[in-house]
Amino acid sequence: MSSTLSMTDRFTASDRLSAAALRQLGDAFTWGVATSAYQIEGAVDVDGRGPSIWDTFASQPGRTVNGESGAVACDHYRRWKDDVAMIAGLGVDAYRFSIAWPRVQPLGQGLFNERGLDFYDRLVDGLLERGIAPHATLYHWDLPQALQDRGGWGNRDTAFHFAVYADAIARRLGDRLASLATHNEPWCTAVLGHEIGKFAPGERDPQLAAQVSHHLLLSHGLAMSAMRASGTACPLGIVLNQSSVTAATASAADQAAAATEYARFVRWYMDPLFQGRYPQDAGIAHYPQVQDGDMALIQAPLDFLGINYYARIWASRDEPPVPPPMALGATDMGWEIYPDGLRELLVGLKAQYPDLPPIFITENGMANADTLDHGRVPDHARIDYVRRHLEALAQAKAAGVDIRGYFYWSLMDNYEWDSGYAKRFGLVHVDYATQQRTLKDSAHWYSATIAQARRHVDAPAQEPVHG
Ligand code: FCB
Repeated sequence: MSSTLSMTDRFTASDRLSAAALRQLGDAFTWGVATSAYQIEGAVDVDGRGPSIWDTFASQPGRTVNGESGAVACDHYRRWKDDVAMIAGLGVDAYRFSIAWPRVQPLGQGLFNERGLDFYDRLVDGLLERGIAPHATLYHWDLPQALQDRGGWGNRDTAFHFAVYADAIARRLGDRLASLATHNEPWCTAVLGHEIGKFAPGERDPQLAAQVSHHLLLSHGLAMSAMRASGTACPLGIVLNQSSVTAATASAADQAAAATEYARFVRWYMDPLFQGRYPQDAGIAHYPQVQDGDMALIQAPLDFLGINYYARIWASRDEPPVPPPMALGATDMGWEIYPDGLRELLVGLKAQYPDLPPIFITENGMANADTLDHGRVPDHARIDYVRRHLEALAQAKAAGVDIRGYFYWSLMDNYEWDSGYAKRFGLVHVDYATQQRTLKDSAHWYSATIAQARRHVDAPAQEPVHG
């Protein structure tokens, strides 16, 4: 692996991030890579970890591709030292990972598990020793099964248990973390987990999903309050998946559909967090029960907002629907490649929410049908995807959005939830039979781009203008 590989060795001039983008992103910008616990750790029954809803869900017939689970995944729990060395080799500033709640508190309430806590202690220290800033997320979908047995996120009590867990982590790791986020993508937990049934726990009940979304936000608010009370100096926030929304046509029906989609996907979380209320939209059929005081908790000030962006939402009411243009094609997930949506989204948010805190793009990336051939993975499509999204990000920054960093999803190929191991998002290829890691061309490109950004900041006048 090499972080000093010259751009000209492997990439063409058109692969380079423009001088304007490099200048715009600037020197205080954080370059990172991201993962989550269940998708990489494996070791699900090691050192006292309790079962999670994803262990249960993946064991049920027909839930995931080939019945695959995260039982082994990237075996990161055992290989973390090598993985940290690999992260450092990429030359990134920061690493985003999540803490497995059932590893540190096997039943989700009551006793904490020292061996689980020790793992994250060592990981954080190992990252810091190599100059990598650790950014942690408390909940990336692996709820302790014991809490699910009592109703999971449908039970208001779970929000209070989450705050106890959050407080324990802030006290244990907060002195060394660069940031701590409560939730990753609560929309996915609520809608994919409880309305569509595609993710754990696999429920199909829209009213329950609405209530779950409220309990997730409430748990965020309770956790923020508990962590602030603990006196931690660690920046605290939340990570939301967001998209721009495009109406397929100018018809009133499509315009209304686009507004509803935006309300369901973006405003459903942003309005409570920044305005203390749920969006009202004629297209939304289910609202949760909200108790007095909930909204005040949910509105607790954030130190940062994490945004995960993959694609736009395309709103068409025609039958059959008008398809999205897919001018730049689609990823291996079938998601439209639409980098402009990142700029549209961010510029729109700034206009709609004047109190927006600093933003990190905590996930962005693509699944690609990668092939490993003689030690090389020529994933030019991924290089193109990332370059275009970074250009869009720089444009949003130029338009005044306070963007502090970018984390590529994902560091390495991993367990992609219901898609199992079939979808590869990594900068690093993983051979699941041998656990061999191989840097893809995109990893070399990302390293070189980061090095270029640093050179640009040191000596901007030396950089040829192009693109
Ligand atoms: C996001 C998830 C992440 C990964 C990517 C592809 O929604 O946060 O775990 O699955 O999508």
